[in-house]
Amino acid sequence: MSRIAYVNGSYRNMRDACVNVEDRGYQFSDGVYEVCEIRDGRLVDMPRHMTRLQRSLSELRIAMPMPLQSLSVVMHEVVRRNRVTYGIVYLQITRGVARRDHGFPTKPVSPSVVVTARSLSSSKNEATAAAGIRVVTMPDNRWPRVDIKSVSLLPNVLAKQAAREQGAYEAWYVDGDGCVTEGASSNAWIVTTDGRAVTRPTNGGILAGITRSVLFDVLAELQIKLEERPFTPAEAKAAAEAFVTSASQIVMPVVAIDDATIGNGAPGPVSRRLREQFHRFSVFS
Ligand code: PDD
Repeated sequence: MSRIAYVNGSYRNMRDACVNVEDRGYQFSDGVYEVCEIRDGRLVDMPRHMTRLQRSLSELRIAMPMPLQSLSVVMHEVVRRNRVTYGIVYLQITRGVARRDHGFPTKPVSPSVVVTARSLSSSKNEATAAAGIRVVTMPDNRWPRVDIKSVSLLPNVLAKQAAREQGAYEAWYVDGDGCVTEGASSNAWIVTTDGRAVTRPTNGGILAGITRSVLFDVLAELQIKLEERPFTPAEAKAAAEAFVTSASQIVMPVVAIDDATIGNGAPGPVSRRLREQFHRFSVFS
């Protein structure tokens, strides 16, 4: 079955799904995106993703291309047409097409909208989660506006590739103060030896992850104490557990950071429990 993408008003076969060469997303990475998990054919936590999307767009002064309700219809339709029951749906909105010039187009242009969806292997993800992943630390060399979910991801691409070349699954960025900010495509967490879950606050240096915010509800319900504060790689290496959160990984246990083993080298009980319980707190649509 060939994959279908939505591009600016029509559903197209992937091989015919094209954007203009002067799309500002292509030339300047002048656009934003969202990734939602798909489970049992339904979209997970769409309202929170749509709220963050609106914020990203407004920070870049890109207009909402269509009412939220219509965008939701398109995303569900792409999932349906690709028959994805477990996977991700990707939405990208750019400022639109204009002759190449760094400043915003002087004449109004319509934002470009692309939606794709793809299946992931649930059993493969579960096997990865059962084994746990290794992360490697590296300096955070990104721009300060990482709170915007922009398609400008070159430092993230390079960090992820560097991690892979070191045999690791994810990169953890470390800021100028020596504290972990987040992963190249995930938020970073540790669990202290007395059972508190620690993650960096959203007042700088990280993207406000949707999975992270849903996990706050999970922690409250399970009566696990939450601490929003920065932590260093040294504290993380000595922690009882560590994990990352993202729409495609949910709660993914970390069992090694650089060359240090976390806990006994297997996913810890808190991480496993949070992963198991997570979707009880999600909104499905
Ligand atoms: N990445 N931080 C960064 C830099 C991210 O790219 C992501 C998500 C997150 C977690 O956000 P959320 O929980 O809303 O997925 C944190 C997505 C999945 C991606 O780029 O594919």
